[in-house]
Amino acid sequence: MANTGFCAFCCRRKWVKRDWAIATVAITVIIAAVIIVILFFTVFSDSRNRKTSSPTFAPPSAGDFVPLTLLQSAKATGAFCLDGSLPGYHFQKGFGSGSSNWLLHIEGGGWCNSIESCNSRKGTSLGSSNYMEHQVQFSGILSQDPSQNPDFYNWNKVKLRYCDGASFAGHPESEFKNGTELFFRSQLIWEAMMNELLSLGLSKAKEALLTGCSAGGLATFIHCDDFRDQLPKDATVKCLADAGYFLDEPDILGNRTMLAFYRDVLQLQGVAKSLQQDCVGRMEPVKCIFPQEIIKNVKTPFFVVNPAYDSWQIENILVPIGSDPQGYWSSCRLSIKKCDATQIKRLQGYRDAMLKALSMFQRNEEGGMFINSCFSHCQTSYSAWHSPNSPRINNKTMAESVGDWYFNRKESKLIDCPYPCNPTCNNDDYTSSVLSAAV
Ligand SMILES: *[C@@H]1O[C@H](CO)[C@@H](O)[C@H](O)[C@H]1NC(C)=O
Ligand SMILES: *[C@@H]1O[C@H](CO)[C@@H](O)[C@H](O)[C@H]1NC(C)=O
Ligand SMILES: *[C@@H]1O[C@H](CO)[C@@H](O)[C@H](O)[C@H]1NC(C)=O
Repeated sequence: MANTGFCAFCCRRKWVKRDWAIATVAITVIIAAVIIVILFFTVFSDSRNRKTSSPTFAPPSAGDFVPLTLLQSAKATGAFCLDGSLPGYHFQKGFGSGSSNWLLHIEGGGWCNSIESCNSRKGTSLGSSNYMEHQVQFSGILSQDPSQNPDFYNWNKVKLRYCDGASFAGHPESEFKNGTELFFRSQLIWEAMMNELLSLGLSKAKEALLTGCSAGGLATFIHCDDFRDQLPKDATVKCLADAGYFLDEPDILGNRTMLAFYRDVLQLQGVAKSLQQDCVGRMEPVKCIFPQEIIKNVKTPFFVVNPAYDSWQIENILVPIGSDPQGYWSSCRLSIKKCDATQIKRLQGYRDAMLKALSMFQRNEEGGMFINSCFSHCQTSYSAWHSPNSPRINNKTMAESVGDWYFNRKESKLIDCPYPCNPTCNNDDYTSSVLSAAV
């Protein structure tokens, strides 16, 4: 029936002179518009990629672009990404009073718990350096701008790219020897990265901070003491995990979804070998991957940054998609503003569980924490770290709280009042994001 409409236009009516004139004008306008759009995008993408020219194109939290370096030494030790490619990192040299200080930030990106999910990572930057950006922006705790990063701006900074799916803690012994082409070399990647950075000057560090976000925050818990042990005895070495305090909590149906997920990751990639051995000897190994267990035995001073309503945890631990078949939580799990009173009550219960899991660590004299009541995930490597729009507790940004703790300026253990009391939160909303909904 679509044909009728088309024919009504093209066949039944002869075009008069005025029609031709209108058509010519219309076509000219369309062509001009297309040219303008093409020109705009050429200029825009150039200015973003090359970071030259007009600052008006720069996003408000713009940082420096830092190139990717592939870890060539990984060839010798076989420290490969899931697909067999070389792992990589981004390095920015320190200067001035920061030139002997080092900050390492471990990238996050979840985990893979099955052959299928690891295989599908091989086609992304989380499983292969073939897909990694050739340069990334350093902002927040990685920023070189003292107004965005008052205490660490001039340190040597490294972003370790994550391409192993097991928080830098898997072991090749658990690889399949049957033609399944998946490399489980995460622990080797950690070791090769450390060797490379030690040779670049980390071995002479005076002050150092190991950080990471999400799965990189978990890697920070796992590797903190090893990091400390590889640096000079007289160096000040501390660790900071951002959004890495994953809870061993049941979901809304009472199922242990997260525990089962980690059990699969451990089993698939042989992660137990990288966990604290006395813990692994005492209880089911999977329990030993949870930060609330790890933190009991970490000897290095540690700081925990975590929102009490961590959006990743709400989406995947409290309300995994499979536990909400009716879709009662489909908006709330993606945006705290869309939760009803009953759901908010469940979220307050999650916050209580978070605080309970931190209660022992709260007594740790060398420890610090910033547990804000925002619905977010990974805050330190973005403008949330230190800017006029940062979430604050007691009027302090994360950067100020972490700086106070790192430099022993004052005790820094901040726990926010419950949602929605903090007006400085920028609560994430993933309900309009197709990508997030699909994950
Ligand atoms: C290799 O072994 C694993 C585990 O037994 C199995 O799931 C996988 O399908 C096998 N792959 C091939 C190519 O046979
Ligand atoms: C989750 O719990 C429900 C009810 O307790 C049960 O019927 C279901 O099989 C569980 N699902 C999984 C994936 O364990
Ligand atoms: C909060 O801190 C800023 C500086 O970071 C200061 O200018 C402001 O006065 C403080 N506000 C309150 C209410 O203390």
